[in-house]
Amino acid sequence: MFFVYTSYMTEPSITQINIPADFIDLGMGNPDFDLLPLDLLHQAADRYFLSGDPRSLQYGMEQGDGYFRRALSDFLTEAYGTDVDPDLLFVTTGVSSALDLICTLFTRPGDSIFVEEPSYFLALRIFADHDLRIVSIPMDDDGICVDVLEEKFAKFRPKFVYIIPTFQNPSGRTLSQARREEIVAWAQRENILVVADEVYHFLAYTQTPPEPFAAFTRDADQVISVNSFSKILAPGLRLGWIQAHSKVIDRLAGCGLLESGGGMNPYTSALVRGLVESGGLKENISHLCGEYAGRLNAMEAALSRYLPTAKYTLPQGGFFFWVHLPGVDATELRRKTREYKVDLRQGALFSSRMEMRDYVRLSFCFYGPMAIEEGVKRLGDCLADY
Ligand SMILES: Cc1ncc(COP(=O)(O)O)c(C=O)c1O
Repeated sequence: MFFVYTSYMTEPSITQINIPADFIDLGMGNPDFDLLPLDLLHQAADRYFLSGDPRSLQYGMEQGDGYFRRALSDFLTEAYGTDVDPDLLFVTTGVSSALDLICTLFTRPGDSIFVEEPSYFLALRIFADHDLRIVSIPMDDDGICVDVLEEKFAKFRPKFVYIIPTFQNPSGRTLSQARREEIVAWAQRENILVVADEVYHFLAYTQTPPEPFAAFTRDADQVISVNSFSKILAPGLRLGWIQAHSKVIDRLAGCGLLESGGGMNPYTSALVRGLVESGGLKENISHLCGEYAGRLNAMEAALSRYLPTAKYTLPQGGFFFWVHLPGVDATELRRKTREYKVDLRQGALFSSRMEMRDYVRLSFCFYGPMAIEEGVKRLGDCLADY
């Protein structure tokens, strides 16, 4: 079924999405409405209500529903190929809230943190809400430059390093296995937290990513892996998890927020538990990977046809093309693309220094191949006129 979300534009808003009907927003990093698994969730909800168990409607255990964590740990053990202990998982309402909680518990206003340059712009907003001083560290094709991390450490003494190691938002890059190991060794040496946002880890199309940071958490109490169901099931569930050493889990589970409100999202956890146990999550990820791989190919074909001067590294997974348009000010370009009824995200958004001005982030997650081609064509027309 094709869901025509634009026809609801004059009705009260339900989603963050607000795109005029004749527009193609290639900047949109949300999943397509058509890829949201309504049927799987319907079946899971039926199973949940038939169980007649009211406990998930009670204040939940602080660390998160134990049955759900057990189902999730089985899934992760198979997916990562390494044992995941349910006692080392902590249920969250998604990566955004996990980052917010980590900032609350591990930082004070004015502290420094390190982020990749470029980085996920909305994480930068969360860090700004906590009045943190954001210090950016450059990346190359293998991910964040570890030598610069080490070099800047003495000066800034950051409270943590925030990285998106796999199919990064926005650059699509993946941190090499060697650098992952170097970062963990460095973090242990200097006793600094590494917050690894692994939200795209399972969306791998043409490359199997290296080991997740989650795999280091059993031995390294400096590593926190944050992850989410937003990209592999549905963002509206507001459900995610942290995998970390028992010392970190105890700190998280013991905070005032949870003592008062109980564990996060017990009702949704109970519902999604059935879906994970029945193999529905695995099935959905495999469906998404097939779908997104086709969209990635469509975007690549359209870029080579309509934007032959664009420079980019072909993403192997995730949602994004990080496109270099030498000599183009993407903030200015974005004003003009609107005349062509197409949108993008300008590179400067992802820079804590307002750099990356001649880059744009294009997403292939929100539209099917035909709209992707049409959007890139409009972008090409606009650039020809720039
Ligand atoms: C790197 C990254 N982290 C986190 C999020 C948001 O995650 P959640 O929906 O779990 O809060 C996004 C969404 O675009 C993202 O790209």
